[in-house]
Amino acid sequence: MDSQHSDHDREPLPEAGAELDVAEGAPAAEHFGAIIGGSAPMRRVFDMIERVAPTDVTVLIIGESGSGKELVAQSIHERSTRARGPFVAINCGAIPATLIEAELFGYEKGSFTGASRAHAGVFERAKGGTLFLDEITEMPIEMQTRLLRVLETQRFCRVGGTQDVVSDIRVVAATNRDPFRAVKDGKLREDVLYRLAVFPIQVPPLRDRGDDVVRLAEWFLAERNDAARTSKRLSDQALAHLVQHPWPGNVRELKNAIERAFILADEELHLVPLGAGTAPTPLGATAASIHVPVGARLDQAERSLIEATLQHYHGNKRRAAQVLGCSLKTLYNKLKGYAREPVWAES
Ligand SMILES: Nc1ncnc2c1ncn2[C@@H]1O[C@H](COP(=O)(O)OP(=O)(O)O)[C@@H](O)[C@H]1O
Ligand SMILES: [Mg+2]
Repeated sequence: MDSQHSDHDREPLPEAGAELDVAEGAPAAEHFGAIIGGSAPMRRVFDMIERVAPTDVTVLIIGESGSGKELVAQSIHERSTRARGPFVAINCGAIPATLIEAELFGYEKGSFTGASRAHAGVFERAKGGTLFLDEITEMPIEMQTRLLRVLETQRFCRVGGTQDVVSDIRVVAATNRDPFRAVKDGKLREDVLYRLAVFPIQVPPLRDRGDDVVRLAEWFLAERNDAARTSKRLSDQALAHLVQHPWPGNVRELKNAIERAFILADEELHLVPLGAGTAPTPLGATAASIHVPVGARLDQAERSLIEATLQHYHGNKRRAAQVLGCSLKTLYNKLKGYAREPVWAES
């Protein structure tokens, strides 16, 4: 799948937890479909989703990166009358300006060099379903003018085409910027904002969700445990870190942190280096760092990190294990494994 389209790899629906019930005095909901959360601000989001999903109005989801905007968009789609239709996601920030018109509207054969066949754009592919326009403020301004016309008429023309195509779609857009600020900065057309934001939904940052950070950590850990048939637990240190850390990368950062800690843990997950009384060092904040290209294997990345850490501490395994947040035994086992295996192709 090409990179500008997100791979909406479905999480299995959580089994535990009460169904959403926003009535006063109801037990705290633990999740809303695939969206984990029971905090008051998330319950408000669930309520908004429930109200807006069955209507066909355009929704603008606003929230920091990693806060779950795409998950909210999917949830709206799944609870809409279009649920049987496609959910097509496109990240406007990930497509070069020269290609975005063809990506959105498609093109006819021979309309430009290299167009050897006709191609349907996302507006056509989402027919009968929902089109998720992520990072809407990154769409070039001229393209926003055309978007407005499609939103108003449900009609558009393929690149090099002569006839209008009619496509019945619902648009859900998202941004991690303040949309009014984006209008002021000339990144978003004001008329587009008002057309898109018929129904705005603010997804709160993880640091404002209270206990949800622990709920989410436990959920991600349970998923890992299920997959690996293990029963690892969060350490007291990990629990303390969960509530202290401000999680600037939101749920995405948390999910990755759990994944990393899970790999390094024997039984108990540690989330930060247990420095002797020092403040935790976030990854990437030390002078020495490793470069892990996207596309690297997880085990390869882990090995690079372990070897770099060892080198940084001049081969002091005890210190390296401490910094990596794993036991000395785990570190020894990993190193033993590496000694048996050839080094991966050096990049
Ligand atoms: N409330 C949540 N419950 C479970 N998983 C979540 C939640 N919020 C986000 N995630 C997961 O975190 C990652 C980032 O979420 P995503 O929707 O892509 O964020 P955004 O679009 O705001 O950057 C995804 O893997 C998503 O499944
Ligand atoms: Mg996203």
